[in-house]
Amino acid sequence: MARFKTLDDLDVKGRRVLLRADLNVPMKDGRVTDTTRIDRVAPTVAELAHKGARVVLMSHFGRPKGRRVPEMSLAPLVGPVSTALGGREVRFAEDCVGPVAFEIAETLGDGQVALLENLRFHAGEEANDPAFAQELAKLGDLYVNDAFSAAHRAHASVEALAHLLPAAAGRLMQAELEHLAKALESPARPVGAIVGGAKISTKLDLLGNLVERVDLLVIGGGMANTFLNALGAAVGRSLCEHDMAETARRIVEQAKTAGCDLVLPTDAQVAAALDAGAPNRTVSIKEVPAQEMILDVGPASAAHVAQRLGECRTLLWNGPLGCFEVPPFDAGTNAVARAAAEQTRAGRLLSVAGGGDTVAALVHAGVAEDFTYVSTAGGAFLEWLEGKTLPGVAALEAAAG
Ligand code: 3PG
Ligand code: MG
Repeated sequence: MARFKTLDDLDVKGRRVLLRADLNVPMKDGRVTDTTRIDRVAPTVAELAHKGARVVLMSHFGRPKGRRVPEMSLAPLVGPVSTALGGREVRFAEDCVGPVAFEIAETLGDGQVALLENLRFHAGEEANDPAFAQELAKLGDLYVNDAFSAAHRAHASVEALAHLLPAAAGRLMQAELEHLAKALESPARPVGAIVGGAKISTKLDLLGNLVERVDLLVIGGGMANTFLNALGAAVGRSLCEHDMAETARRIVEQAKTAGCDLVLPTDAQVAAALDAGAPNRTVSIKEVPAQEMILDVGPASAAHVAQRLGECRTLLWNGPLGCFEVPPFDAGTNAVARAAAEQTRAGRLLSVAGGGDTVAALVHAGVAEDFTYVSTAGGAFLEWLEGKTLPGVAALEAAAG
C-alpha cells in the first residue's frame, strides 16, 4: 500500500547510500543542546550500516545562504552523531560535493559512515539546481530521504536528487508519514484537533483545511483571542489580531457548514503582566478586565476540552493553549496534554503532535513520551496540516512510480 519505497525495498550491501537527514539541531556555543533529531534518524543510519551499506550522511544547518559560514559547519555534529550510533566512527568531509566528498564516499568500507559538510554552503542546494544535484548523485548509488522536517523545501538534496538515484524513505520519514496518514487521511473518528499559538494570520490555511476534515476543533493560545474578539468579546490588552476579525468569522461560518464543532475558551487566566508568578486570576471570557491580558485558558475551558477528548478517537495537536513557558500560565496546556496522554495510554486515542512549541509544551507537561507520535518537524508539519503537497514526499512518491 505504500506509495513510496522504504529500506525494505533496497538492497544496500556494499552500496553507497546517500542519506538525507535533518541535522538542523539547536546549538549553543558550538554544542548541540537538543539531540532529538539526531536520535530519531540514528536507527536508519544504524540499520543501513548493519546491512553493510556505505552511509554518506548529508544535511543542511541554519541558513548560510550559499556561502561557507564557519559557525554553520556540521563538523560539531560528528561527535553527537557518533554517540547516537553507539560510538560508531563517523568520518567528516569538509565539503558536500567535489573531490573531498568523492574521496570519502569512495573509500568508505561496508558498514562505515561519513558526514558531509553543510549542503547550504552551496547555493545550488536551495535553488534545487539540477547540476548541483548531479554532483551529489556522484557520491551515492542509492538515495534515502529521512528528513521529513525538511520535506517542505524543494531543495536539491530533498527534491532533485530523488529523481537521479533509486530513492526510498528512511525509517523516520516512513514513521512520520504513516502516523500523519493515520491522523488525518484515514483517521478513526471522531477526530479532534487542538490548534494554539499566537496568531491566526500564520495559520489561516491550516485552520481552513482542518475545519473541513476534523469533527472537533479546539482553538487556544493568542489566536483564540482573535476569535473571541471577532465574536464580540472584549479581550482587554490581550494579544489579538483586530484586523483578522472578518477572517475569524469566516472560519467560524466555514466550520458550521462543514459540521466541525469549533470550541473556544469560556474562561481565562488573566494578569496585568506576563511574569512568572504574576498576580493572576480566573475570569469568565465575558469579563476580561480592560487593563489585563489573557495568558492561558481557564480551568473550566481546560476541563471541557479534556472531557471532549474523551469522545475522540484521534487527536492532532499543534500549538500551546497559553504562555506555557511562564508558569502558572502553563496550567491549561498541562491539563489538556495530560488528559490526551491518559486517553492515549488507555488505548482509546491515537494522538499525534508536531511543531517546535508544541513539542516543548508536551515535554514541559511531562507527557511527550505518552503521545502516539511526536513529529520532529516544525514547518513541514504545518504545511502538511495545511493539506499542501510536500516536495520531498512528492519526489519519493514519483520515484516509486
Ligand atoms: C527546520 O528546522 O524547520 C528544518 O530543518 C527546515 O529548516 P529551514 O526552515 O531553514 O528550511
Ligand atoms: Mg524552520
